[in-house]
Amino acid sequence: TIKACLFDLDGVLVDTARYHYEAWKRLAADLGFEFTQTDNERLKGVSRMASLDILLSVGQLHKSEAEKQELAARKNRWYVEAISKMGPEEILPGALSFLKDCRESGLKVALGSASKNAMTILNNTGLTPYFDVIIDGTKTSSAKPDPEVFLLGASGLEVEPEHCVVFEDAEAGIEAARRAGMRSVGIGSPATLGEADLVIPSLEGMTVTRLRQEMPAFFI
Ligand code: BG6
Ligand code: MG
Repeated sequence: TIKACLFDLDGVLVDTARYHYEAWKRLAADLGFEFTQTDNERLKGVSRMASLDILLSVGQLHKSEAEKQELAARKNRWYVEAISKMGPEEILPGALSFLKDCRESGLKVALGSASKNAMTILNNTGLTPYFDVIIDGTKTSSAKPDPEVFLLGASGLEVEPEHCVVFEDAEAGIEAARRAGMRSVGIGSPATLGEADLVIPSLEGMTVTRLRQEMPAFFI
């Protein structure tokens, strides 16, 4: 049965994808090429340096390791500037009430994010107190689809992976959950998240009762 819920952050609890996009787009413009919304889809759930590699491949540019470090730092400065102005109003619909419902229903709650900026976002939106364990990009060495982030979350909660369900908006995150031996709920479109056990458009209206109704197998 399910004893814990593990949440991705960007795109599941907060709409930070647009800030990432604005910063990457600005970096591409500095480098002299255009970076579209469609290109940006490929960056979801992907670590900062891997995202930069994808961006540079779109621009057909080759950079040295030192140049890449500088470019990633430049993008991150713009991104941090944007998220430093975030507030609770940027929590995605349904996310806060579902987090509360999980806790009131006796489920443990962890964060499993690739972002090294997760704490800034959690603190600015007021979400920090809702997590028993927080695993972010500062605590992991392998990025999704590696299961490390979720396995660290489960061991921090002292819950076996088979009793965990992961909420994710990225294909790489669903794959990470599968490799961790966990159930998964995709947040977004079945076209990209078809590997998840259940796909819902957003957390709006989600409750533990509804999860129990839609996925009785999770609770056996
Ligand atoms: C993920 C986002 O959560 O974190 C990616 O989906 C992002 O778009 C990654 O690149 C790393 O984030 P950060 O804040 O460490 O650059
Ligand atoms: Mg995400």
